[in-house]
Amino acid sequence: MENKKLVVANLKMYLSTSDIATYLKKIASLERQNVIFCPTSIYLPYFVGHGYGVGIQNVAATELGAYTGEVSAIQAAGLGVQYAILGHSERRQYFGETNAQIHQKIIQCLRAKMTPIVCIGETAEEYQKQQTKEVLKQQIIACFRDLPAEAISKVIIAYEPIWAIGTGKIPRNEEITEIASEIKHIVVEKFHCHMIPVLYGGSIKCSNIEQLENIKNIDGYLIGKASTTEEFFRLLEVVYYK
Ligand code: PGA
Repeated sequence: MENKKLVVANLKMYLSTSDIATYLKKIASLERQNVIFCPTSIYLPYFVGHGYGVGIQNVAATELGAYTGEVSAIQAAGLGVQYAILGHSERRQYFGETNAQIHQKIIQCLRAKMTPIVCIGETAEEYQKQQTKEVLKQQIIACFRDLPAEAISKVIIAYEPIWAIGTGKIPRNEEITEIASEIKHIVVEKFHCHMIPVLYGGSIKCSNIEQLENIKNIDGYLIGKASTTEEFFRLLEVVYYK
């Protein structure tokens, strides 16, 4: 059976203007709706309309107006962008983004008919203290607060342990399985919504993708650094064509 997993390429701020032309040529033959490219905002128009999915890495918490430097969900959606990564740990850590702001951003995306990909994850310290489930629960409740089940059913969650991002370390398969099922369970229990997709992200590489593929209850992957290199095409081979 064909693998329906979503693969989200979070290109972060890696590619220069000259890199991007080469990158676009390399992905030109990919027509998969279930591969979603999330480039730096100014590159978005180059990615739209080629058969693969396109996402923005952040949106403003407000609609339109005097917010210098921001990009609203409605503006991105107007260009044909279908997804938005929200609450990535780099945004939380370097730009002080809070769950309350992420909540507003989810609302903006849903109004603009874009699919939010909401990132949640625990720090190394929280992981060591075995607080992961509690931390994730608090993040989910704060981000989804007061949203109706029908709205939440349109959201994707990306579980990204902060200690796994860019470090080469990943949780064991049993841990990811347990956490993915816990996340789905929290959403159903607290918001009376059906099970929503949960992706895993953090240090995904060719050396661990086959192992990750044995996990039964995740719906795809959020890939950072490796999505900006040749390695990405080998990863897609394993996920879709093995
Ligand atoms: P990484 O990043 O794959 O480079 O660890 C994942 C992410 O931050 O989304």
